[in-house]
Amino acid sequence: MDRTVAEARAAFLRTELERHNRLYYQLDSPEISDAEYDRLFRELVRLEAQYPELARPDSPTRRVGSAPLESFGQVEHRLPMLSLENAFNDGEIAEFDERVKRFLGMEGGSELDYVCEPKMDGVAVELVYENGLFTGGSTRGDGVTGEDITANLRTIRAIPLHLAVAPPPALCEVRGEVFLPLAPFRQLNAEREEAGESPFANPRNSAAGSLRQLDSRVTARRPLTIYCYAPGATEGAEFESQSAFLATIEGWGLPVNPLVKKVTGVAGILAYYREMAERRETLPYEIDGVVVKVDSVALQRELGEKSRSPRWAVAVKFPPRQAVTVVEDIVPQVGRTGVVTPVAHLKPVEVSGVIVSRATLHNWDEMEKKDIRIGDTVVVERAGDVIPAVVRVLTEKRTGAERPLPVPESCPACGSEVVRIADEVAVRCLGLSCPAQRRESIIHFASRHAMDIDGLGERYIDQLLRLGLVRNVADLYMLTRDDFMRFERMGDRLAENLLAAIAESRTRELPRFIFALGIRHVGEHTAKLLAGAFGSIDNLMKAGEEELLAIREIGPQVAQSIRTFFHNPENRAVVERLLAAGVTPSVTEKKVGGKFTGKTFVFTGALTRFTRDDARRLVENEGGHAAGSVSKKTDYVVAGAEAGSKLEKARALGVTVLTEDEFLQMLEEGA
Ligand code: IVH
Repeated sequence: MDRTVAEARAAFLRTELERHNRLYYQLDSPEISDAEYDRLFRELVRLEAQYPELARPDSPTRRVGSAPLESFGQVEHRLPMLSLENAFNDGEIAEFDERVKRFLGMEGGSELDYVCEPKMDGVAVELVYENGLFTGGSTRGDGVTGEDITANLRTIRAIPLHLAVAPPPALCEVRGEVFLPLAPFRQLNAEREEAGESPFANPRNSAAGSLRQLDSRVTARRPLTIYCYAPGATEGAEFESQSAFLATIEGWGLPVNPLVKKVTGVAGILAYYREMAERRETLPYEIDGVVVKVDSVALQRELGEKSRSPRWAVAVKFPPRQAVTVVEDIVPQVGRTGVVTPVAHLKPVEVSGVIVSRATLHNWDEMEKKDIRIGDTVVVERAGDVIPAVVRVLTEKRTGAERPLPVPESCPACGSEVVRIADEVAVRCLGLSCPAQRRESIIHFASRHAMDIDGLGERYIDQLLRLGLVRNVADLYMLTRDDFMRFERMGDRLAENLLAAIAESRTRELPRFIFALGIRHVGEHTAKLLAGAFGSIDNLMKAGEEELLAIREIGPQVAQSIRTFFHNPENRAVVERLLAAGVTPSVTEKKVGGKFTGKTFVFTGALTRFTRDDARRLVENEGGHAAGSVSKKTDYVVAGAEAGSKLEKARALGVTVLTEDEFLQMLEEGA
């Protein structure tokens, strides 16, 4: 390619990649698959390598991270980054409203406009745009001076590297919260536990840890994202109100939480607070309250600030999801990869609506650090994690009868040697044929997000193992009706159903199949990347380290683990037997020209005809997109029983609302 062509192509790729970033992160409606994105990305990397003079500071290729820093520089904020005063209940919300009105000398009956926003539980950062270009960013620090984390922020694809506005303001500082959504947070922790590293206690810590990396290539592999919520110093840009500010920066390409809402008076704030307290349980990220801000910037100026927080805003905190209970036992449990995890069996206790009876203690290091013993009274917390955690021991409740659980000398499942590997906090069973590891790997293989073998749960898998009918996952596909009939309490119908479910799983999509194999460090997300990049299990098995490392987000540790897995003759044999048994992982490139191409669906309420996962798959198979929240971009909302705010929003925006049956009909007939 000659230079002028290359230059034009590079410019095109840059614009396209940033447009797709925006579609994905800001509008939640991607047009292309991750694999296609990666192809465009790699093409640009190649062009810039060939013609280094084409590389620009705002090129999306700069998002992969760069060589590690010695330390972070210090940056002084042009305007101090304030914190917020807290309110904890309805009374304190009313007091805030009264205080503001009194300060402004407002009449008794009149009401103020407020902007209400979810209080994101992440890390506050400042982004600096000079003449529209992202030139730097920092942490809050002590509010006056923060750390220069520009290299790390650049890796966050939701942060535009330039603003979509012409002419751009000379200076525009924007503050926001960087966070890791729950799904990647859980995945990251699962991977860390497998790798023998300590998991993060909550999503906020994971975001903070990721931003504090001196090696921005590590940050680049964490799918951090951001919502922006406040202006810093600006030149050449003025905002009349918080709502106008948010609408403007959203137009410039900065992500703004779609749940922000302008309300009137204390009644409006309370209604918003209640709605968010309820939705908190189903949001894909953690929030720890709502932030209420006087909308008018003129009034904000009049109100001013006291020592370190503005008078015009307040954070209304949710009650923590904690409870006190007793550790009745601590039981070592062997996972799929041989890691032995201490699990606390708790006296069942309700934590904000959910009964908790188990908590992972992660590993012996953690357990010893927190000094958790059998018989202890402890504080447990549901902190964004599916499995609750023990926060701390109430040592004042000790009677002296409590006892710690020592590191096991041998595997509790197979009696093999266990080791505590240097640099790892994990205790690992080295038994090659440890039954607990086999059991866990079969359970994982059949589970909903893997091969999704309907009905084949732990109970049946235990019977299959006990009867010696199954030794590894490939054996599942050799089972006959007679095998199942040897089970206790098994009928014809049930046996047929199980066999049908196993047979049906033969054609699961490739990413699920890869995930189902249970390769260390390969979670759902990584499996998708691998499927997109290699297209078949054969290609993946053959892939060398170089090829694996060429995939964005895949680092040396993951690449090594994949190589090791497929080098192991036992694993290769299992995969080959699976394929020989007729397992043909299917590759569904997003259908272009499918019935729903370019259409965005939102599913809400209680669905009875299909699960949410099925719905997403049906839509995606037809080239459409299933989003989590309703916006102007939504084409259809499919509402089940008791649909709430999403349905209301759809109606307010005039989005077409379908019943489940209407959706299924449309699927048959075409949109
Ligand atoms: S506004 C002067 N808005 O909460 C206004 N803060 O307790 C300063 N936070 O340091 C902040 N979500 O880290 C604002 N929608 C939101 C927020 C938010 C989360 C955090 C932020 C801040 C802390 C203050």
